[in-house]
Amino acid sequence: MTGFVRKDLIGLQGLSADEIGYVLDVADQFRFVNLRSIKKVPTLRGKSVVHLFLEPSTRTRTSFDIAAKRLSADTFSISGGSSSTTKGETLLDTARNLAAMHPDIIVLRHARAGAPGLLSDALPNTSIINAGDGRHEHPTQALLDMLTIRRALGGLKGRTVTIVGDITHSRVARSNIWGLRTMGAKVRVCGPRTLIPPGIEELGVEVHDNLQDGIRKADVVMMLRIQKERLSRGGHFFPTSREYSRMFGLNREKLRRWARKDVLIMHPGPINRGVELEPEVADGEWSVILDQVENGVAVRMAVMYLVLGGEGAARREGRG
Ligand code: NCD
Repeated sequence: MTGFVRKDLIGLQGLSADEIGYVLDVADQFRFVNLRSIKKVPTLRGKSVVHLFLEPSTRTRTSFDIAAKRLSADTFSISGGSSSTTKGETLLDTARNLAAMHPDIIVLRHARAGAPGLLSDALPNTSIINAGDGRHEHPTQALLDMLTIRRALGGLKGRTVTIVGDITHSRVARSNIWGLRTMGAKVRVCGPRTLIPPGIEELGVEVHDNLQDGIRKADVVMMLRIQKERLSRGGHFFPTSREYSRMFGLNREKLRRWARKDVLIMHPGPINRGVELEPEVADGEWSVILDQVENGVAVRMAVMYLVLGGEGAARREGRG
């Protein structure tokens, strides 16, 4: 059966190609809402969405909030500094208290890997959407990345995607590896050996520690930020930012010499300009970075709609 029948979205690990393809198809349809002059549909009228962001976020949080509002859901935002977690309350207590107010969806960003899974088990009547948990997964980011590639190249199967940078600490890399491999893309990871987890080949990816080899003939190059906040204290992963940039940063010249002419350059943001990407590339003709942001809203609309039952639920409640 094709479709997406799940209460939560915790990660892309374990999702089938049909499920991922279906979410992308639904997202493609929601894209049009965002291009209208009146950007609102009644799809989730009467539903409530709590955004519980216990780690910094600009793009993801705004994107989820806009997505929920465009579906006519009521939204409530709680962030790290303003929540009782700063008074010592556990995540589970915070979540149970929120759940007692009967929200339909909790969108959670948390520094600890596994936090959304914990909530999903503890709150059987609330849909949990993972907006990034530690270095584990960031499923909606990978979905929006896949939608962007699919729209630009017509499909994912057989395409080569190189992910460059801090693979070890990146939830974006991990979700993309699961998703892209499931959709039949070839995935390469590229970065200093110290930032590539040993054994990652077992996930079916090729490993490169040289940028020139890593990006050769790739259809897509996805650049990542060094996750400074997740580097263990005292760990020395590379000599200096300058050195990192010289070895793994992308500029126009390297692209011209080593990459396909029509390569797509992606980045989940926030960009450290001058480190992993020179402005001439971030803002250049290869870049689809703002398309990623645009597609993010449609993907989050699709995910919220689907975890609440999609078309079936809308019909039952007379909204479809
Ligand atoms: C990413 C994240 O938070 O994992 N950003 C995002 O959600 N757009 C990547 C990052 O912080 O580098």
